[in-house]
Amino acid sequence: MMPSWNSRNQLFRKEGRLIRWSYVLAGCALISFCIGGTWLLAQDKNPFARDAKAAKLGEFQFRANCAFCHGLGARGGGRGPDLTRAQKRHGSSDADLFRTINEGVPGTAMPPNGATQQGVGMTDEEIWQVISYIRSVEKKADATSTGNAAHGKELFQGTAGCSTCHMIQGKGGRIGPDLSTAGSARSTEYLVESVRMPSKRLAQGISEAMKEFSQEYETVTVVTADGTKFMGVVLNEDHFTLQMMDTRENLHLFEKDKLKSLEKSRESLMPAYDQKMLSDKDLQDVVAYLLLVGAQ
Ligand code: HEC
Ligand code: HEC
Repeated sequence: MMPSWNSRNQLFRKEGRLIRWSYVLAGCALISFCIGGTWLLAQDKNPFARDAKAAKLGEFQFRANCAFCHGLGARGGGRGPDLTRAQKRHGSSDADLFRTINEGVPGTAMPPNGATQQGVGMTDEEIWQVISYIRSVEKKADATSTGNAAHGKELFQGTAGCSTCHMIQGKGGRIGPDLSTAGSARSTEYLVESVRMPSKRLAQGISEAMKEFSQEYETVTVVTADGTKFMGVVLNEDHFTLQMMDTRENLHLFEKDKLKSLEKSRESLMPAYDQKMLSDKDLQDVVAYLLLVGAQ
């Protein structure tokens, strides 16, 4: 049976309304897609590229939020890598830098935007200004090319003896910090200084720089109640206990009040390598090796 003219008309009108609504919805979707699209595009390229004024403003932001770890001039410090290297580990494009700075590097000390002590996030514009600043201090050539990494590896594992104390990619000793990421997390100057003057700045756990009590490789000497002496590095410590690794890589957990003596020193367990132990040329090769490993 055919529906009456009246109800058919109603049906038709309903459908018409539906069709009109779907046009409106599609239109909205299209508009928001376009807005979203241009917004994404805006994040891909630095709107302040090669703008000296923006770089200056970025330098100001950098000093306030980043120099603490990445050093003045972005040349790297004990806690963050040298950002003047053209080749960045987490991507070198504008979009990569934006993402790294905005989101941080999970599992490392590199914090997401707004998570530093001040807790004040930078606006997108300010992040781009910081990127302009980083571009303005970037070196054209890469430091890796100045040393012979293959020879550096031989030295590291052989005559220089580094691997007796340091692990790289799962191989080596454990009394010193694992150096697999040192080449990316530390500046070249810092690496050189660590070898020539290890006691000047003791290493700090790379992923722990944000902790209130980050681990430092302090040298410790304890004498237990029965007179046994252990020397090594502090792994963990609170008011009552001390966890350490001795020079034979044995772990110990001591209750402090049961010890005969406990002495800590900021003199590194690592020997200071002078020119005779490791020439400048050889050190350059070792550093090239660390940079190469760090970039992997
Ligand atoms: C608490 C220390 C700390 C602070 C503060 C910090 N960073 Fe970092 N940043 C790091 C560390 C550590 C890494 C290396 C992460 C890794 O292991 O790859 C890093 C990595 C980066 C990288 C990637 C480098 C590469 O080779 O890919 C960029 C870019 C960067 N930081 C920029 C910044 C900027 C800009 C700021 C300030 C807004 C900042 N960082 C603040 C510690 C810090
Ligand atoms: C006897 C053990 C020993 C030897 C040998 C040794 N180191 Fe170390 N190294 C350490 C210890 C312990 C530390 C941590 C304390 C400090 O920062 O000095 C350290 C720290 C470092 C650091 C700083 C790491 C950081 O993240 O801050 C670097 C880089 C380093 N060593 C490189 C080398 C190189 C390269 C060699 C070989 C030429 C070498 N070490 C030989 C024990 C050693």
